[in-house]
Amino acid sequence: MTPLRIALLGTGGIANEFLAPALAQCEGARLWSVLSRSRSNAEAFAERHGALAPSPAHDSLDALLADPDLDAVLVASPDRVHKEQVIAAARAGKHVLCEKPLATRVEDGVAMVRACEERGVTLGAAYHLRHHAGHKALVERVRSGALGRVRHTRVQWTFSAPDASNWRAHDDVGRWWALASVGTHAIDLVRWIMVPHAGEVVELKAIGSSPKFGAAHDESALVAMRFEDGSTAEVFASVLFRAARRIELFGDDGYAQAEGTLGPWGKGEITVDDKPLEYTPTNPYVGELEDFARAVRAKTSPAVDGHEALRNLELLERALP
Ligand SMILES: NC(=O)c1ccc[n+]([C@@H]2O[C@H](COP(=O)([O-])OP(=O)(O)OC[C@H]3O[C@@H](n4cnc5c(N)ncnc54)[C@H](OP(=O)(O)O)[C@@H]3O)[C@@H](O)[C@H]2O)c1
Repeated sequence: MTPLRIALLGTGGIANEFLAPALAQCEGARLWSVLSRSRSNAEAFAERHGALAPSPAHDSLDALLADPDLDAVLVASPDRVHKEQVIAAARAGKHVLCEKPLATRVEDGVAMVRACEERGVTLGAAYHLRHHAGHKALVERVRSGALGRVRHTRVQWTFSAPDASNWRAHDDVGRWWALASVGTHAIDLVRWIMVPHAGEVVELKAIGSSPKFGAAHDESALVAMRFEDGSTAEVFASVLFRAARRIELFGDDGYAQAEGTLGPWGKGEITVDDKPLEYTPTNPYVGELEDFARAVRAKTSPAVDGHEALRNLELLERALP
């Protein structure tokens, strides 16, 4: 099996700390090249992470995409930049794994999905928590009926930002702050758990608030949802608090809780009716990349495809227009 040759677009936090190291551990994919706005930055990143292309460092997206040996791009730029990069990659015939959220406007997401479909390239969205081994074990329990019918899910994910200097707090390349950094992951988990048995979200109410820094975008976001079968879910996302990160599932015949699983590490404690759910922690980013590489090779859908990422984006836009 020849590993998929992937270019990283962006050299920031997620690319440097998690995606490039995960690519180094993958069987199905390898870091081939990298795009930065600064050529010297791209060169340093390519060197640091052992990018394999003969000329791996680029400061021009067109030049990076012109490489006939490149198979796919992994878009790790700020949210508002995704659209242009994804559409350019699709038009160049490259498969795309795009960081979450897919875009900052539903109409942009629609154009991205369409561009990928028109060129017949795979589009996946990087919701790595679907590849957390404990979450997979928990969802298997849900599907097997261990909790009875799950009628409510609650996800609480907060962290403490030092100030409002992050790009997510501003309009140039961001649109939502708490909602786009962690809330969209929480919504993805809710959708993964609930939609197969409860149907689509038919009602949504939300509050966004910026009480501490007076940021242009949500410092905290509360989202309440109702599904077709009457089940409900709630998400609390915030950049203001160091607090427990928790998922709770309320079923007719049982209750499950995951504590400390939300984040990059693939760890945390999960209980079903107070009994520990055993699982072997794995790197969720490696799982995400292997899943994408498999989908490209087999011409099937990755765990979160463009359409599912678009449903998530629609909920973000409905929550905080
Ligand atoms: N799934 C996860 O666990 C996870 C975690 C964190 C972030 N993310 C997602 O990954 C994406 C990147 O987030 P991040 O936290 O890595 O952000 P970040 O640290 O700010 O890095 C973003 C990088 O994008 C590049 N970039 C391109 N155009 C840019 C522009 N106009 N302004 C600023 N940077 C630009 C920059 O690289 P150069 O300077 O080299 O051009 C920058 O370092 C976001 O969509 C975010 O939601 C996902």
